[in-house]
Amino acid sequence: MIIAKTIKEVRENVKAWRAEGLKVGLVPTMGYLHEGHQSLIRRAVKENDRVVVSIFVNPLQFGENEDLDTYPRDFARDSKICASEGVSMVFHPSGHEMYNKGFCTFVDMTGLTETLCGKSRPGHFRGVCTVVSKLFNIVNPDRAYFGWKDAQQVAVIKRMVMDLNIDIEIVACETVRESDGLARSSRNVYLSSNERKASTILQEALKVAEKKIASGVRSSHEIKEAMVETISSVKEVKLDYAEIVDLKTLQPVSTIDGPTLVAAAIFIGGTRLIDNYIYGI
Ligand code: PAF
Repeated sequence: MIIAKTIKEVRENVKAWRAEGLKVGLVPTMGYLHEGHQSLIRRAVKENDRVVVSIFVNPLQFGENEDLDTYPRDFARDSKICASEGVSMVFHPSGHEMYNKGFCTFVDMTGLTETLCGKSRPGHFRGVCTVVSKLFNIVNPDRAYFGWKDAQQVAVIKRMVMDLNIDIEIVACETVRESDGLARSSRNVYLSSNERKASTILQEALKVAEKKIASGVRSSHEIKEAMVETISSVKEVKLDYAEIVDLKTLQPVSTIDGPTLVAAAIFIGGTRLIDNYIYGI
């Protein structure tokens, strides 16, 4: 497995693969890989001849008071995982390699980025769109893999690819969960054991929504109320948002009748967790 630190190395290798007619898959990550990332990597390995995993904690997508400095990192472990999954190349650039002196060009999006996480994390999706566009330009893959756990990110990237005519297939993969339902996330390591217990309320609230929809309820107001009530039953947890939106436009819907994203975010202590239930696909 190649470990590339520079854009030049990535380009040279991918160019050679392409010259042989090989298909290339990209799994963009911020490292500290878990089962969720592994499922993206496995799918990419299955569907492509060569797979590139990027590991870069992107400073541009963190807000001022967020966890950029404490974000968990373990490159040695990550590269072992990649090697064992059959990854061809890990791209692990420095901050300077990605954002050279005087960097001043950004990819921004209106609308879709102003709801859900975009509301509580202003600038986050500008950082995501900018780094993902750069990774797409650097790696030039046929396909790129993202997890449905970050459903807003999936919708934003699909829209970006459409709007900017980027010729890459975006593959969204199912959320991988712990045995008690908590969605796998690198940030789960921040949780104390009490917080870890309390965190399952997020999945419970989404299950309440899922059950209501399955029983025929279509009023977003009624479903949201039930989610908020569930989440507020645990005192350690503070609700950030519980929203029901159209899966493509991410705009709130009052009645559920097409592909719909039921999304929620909570704070437990200093940790922010997100999860969702997708209806209709
Ligand atoms: O989902 C993530 O880990 C990040 O947002 C991504 C897509 C790697 C961009 O930094």
